[in-house]
Amino acid sequence: MNAPMNDFLPLRRIDHVEFYVGNAKQSSVYYAQAFGFLNTAYRGFETGDRERASYVMEQGRIRFVLTAGTTADSPIAQHAYRHGDGVAIIAIEVPDAAEAYEVTTARGAQGVIEPTSEEDAHGVFRYSAIQSFGDTLIKFVQRDEYDGVFAPGFKARAVPRQERHEGVGLVEIDHIVGNVEKGMMDYWVDFFARIMGFSQLVHFDDRDISTEYSALMSKVMQDGTGRIKFPINEPAEGRRRSQIQEYLDYYGGPGVQHVAMLTGDILKTVRELRNRGVEFLHVPETYYEELSDRVGPIDEPIDELAELGILVDRDDEGYLLQIFTKAVEDRPTVFFEIIQRRGSRGFGVGNFKALFEALEREQAIRGNL
Ligand code: FE2
Repeated sequence: MNAPMNDFLPLRRIDHVEFYVGNAKQSSVYYAQAFGFLNTAYRGFETGDRERASYVMEQGRIRFVLTAGTTADSPIAQHAYRHGDGVAIIAIEVPDAAEAYEVTTARGAQGVIEPTSEEDAHGVFRYSAIQSFGDTLIKFVQRDEYDGVFAPGFKARAVPRQERHEGVGLVEIDHIVGNVEKGMMDYWVDFFARIMGFSQLVHFDDRDISTEYSALMSKVMQDGTGRIKFPINEPAEGRRRSQIQEYLDYYGGPGVQHVAMLTGDILKTVRELRNRGVEFLHVPETYYEELSDRVGPIDEPIDELAELGILVDRDDEGYLLQIFTKAVEDRPTVFFEIIQRRGSRGFGVGNFKALFEALEREQAIRGNL
């Protein structure tokens, strides 16, 4: 399935995700202490950058960059003011950043950063960027001729004891979900198909995932290799305000809703994250009473899944285990998913109803339902 729709835009992998935040110094400690990331590189006043401070945080093959502006008129500070802490840039490694820019803009993308080269003692680092939903950019990064710690301008910080920092066992980004305005999902589905050559993976409509009070529609776009997956949500009619609408209201428009990170041992990873203070959505106990009937035999003990609040879903290919954090900032916007795949390549559609019922309890507590 999913043969590459075309090969006009070769993509390698998600290189990094850059968050614009209010206070990168403090955020870096949260991602280190709570989520187990290692700060491997830094730029800021001390490295000669007067405008911003950035912390590169690594775990497994996951790389987050946390960036804050250092003056009120900084576009980075303004992004954080408008949206709260959130994903500003999804960076994808490509073999040729200039060509990626030419190809995507020729196909209708709005160019934001023209092909740019930066050079230091470690080589040449090339990049470009196009506009995606809301204020989110897709950045093309070419690092074949660069062997520095991250990019020119950054100084190395801690060095992983092994080749990769193991942290709490998070190994790579599984998917990144965007929330867009009502009526705009198909526009962005078309954007990823037409501009970037992605194809649609699965479709489930609001009948599958609506609850009494709020609903959404979702389509999953993935690149030809299947390594890069971008589900896109839009709010659907419900009796009360959709949780996607709540996100849009507080984020101030479309943006990244959650980043899902893969683990090879979700029981161990989630236990560790809970011990470190990460807060997860509450799952009703009744969920586990019905679990065996719904998903059949699984390797993990159900009492342990219940204790940790881990969800399970099964499809033709196998099953998956997943759990969602609460929003990681004061606004009800960005959160994380921890996922372990045991054959299933899905996204847990069977869990949507249980998840949204749980999400809505949180929403009701905030008085936003
Ligand atoms: Fe997800």
